[in-house]
Amino acid sequence: MLLENKVAIVTGGTKGMGKAIALKFAQEGCNVVVTSRHINEAQKVAKEIEKLGHRSLGIKADISKNAEVKEMAAQTIRQFKKIDILVNNAGGVDVTGGDTTDATEADWDHILDVNLKGVFLCCMAVVPHMKKQKSGKIINISSMGAVNPAVSVLHYHAAKAGVLGLNTNLAFELAPFNIHVNAIVPGPIETPFWDSLQSPGPERDKFFKALAAKEVPLGRMGTPEDIAGPALFLASGMSDYVTGQVIYVAGGQPLLSQAATFLSAQGQ
Ligand SMILES: NC(=O)c1ccc[n+]([C@@H]2O[C@H](COP(=O)([O-])OP(=O)(O)OC[C@H]3O[C@@H](n4cnc5c(N)ncnc54)[C@H](O)[C@@H]3O)[C@@H](O)[C@H]2O)c1
Repeated sequence: MLLENKVAIVTGGTKGMGKAIALKFAQEGCNVVVTSRHINEAQKVAKEIEKLGHRSLGIKADISKNAEVKEMAAQTIRQFKKIDILVNNAGGVDVTGGDTTDATEADWDHILDVNLKGVFLCCMAVVPHMKKQKSGKIINISSMGAVNPAVSVLHYHAAKAGVLGLNTNLAFELAPFNIHVNAIVPGPIETPFWDSLQSPGPERDKFFKALAAKEVPLGRMGTPEDIAGPALFLASGMSDYVTGQVIYVAGGQPLLSQAATFLSAQGQ
């Protein structure tokens, strides 16, 4: 067991990558706190984790709201007395558009609040506990769009690039406290993340197939489990000499030389 008796917080852990990470950690002996904006969903995943034989807690926390984030850390400490691992997974784009023709200030503020400020707030709430323990693992989920955008989404990609900046600075500041900070840059992963762009169904399957064939060297879309494995590596003692790094978990992206244009794959 790679995470025996460890305590992890996984933000947005009720579906997609977050849920896969939460379950993978539990399978490795970890007690996992699952957070979500919806308490029922968080508690549902917590029950699944308890069935694996480990303690769990579902907490309602919108990561863009400081009071809720502080309470998330406080509740975890009350219940488990420590926080070994923080996975800053929650995020996404719930607005349409986002290029120079249609990005709005309101969308910018909202998307930055969730995808960048939220990561900052979670770190600020959890790091003091990790410092006291003189140990910790923080895993930040960025996006390929931060480094090699396939479509223009200014606010989301800027936020995810900000996460990489935060990652580097935190790793630098926290290394003397034996706190490891690393980021994962996912490629295209099949999760509910895509629902706002296109509903699940045969059309979306066709789009994913075309996208994977054209733009992913390994020739397939990623699964949430593809992210959970590298997250486990970064959470465990197997990565104790790794900090400030960025792992691309993207099927080989961005190895291909042609420009990524995944939306244009839709018609194929
Ligand atoms: N799926 C992809 O192709 C892809 C690619 C690159 C990066 N990402 C990033 O990976 C992470 C996980 O996404 P996913 O693909 O599993 O998507 P998902 O939509 O399945 O899961 C995202 C989770 O974050 C939660 N969330 C969103 N806003 C929140 C907030 N303000 N407070 C608390 N929780 C909130 C959602 O409720 C959901 O549980 C996200 O940060 C996303 O931006 C996804």
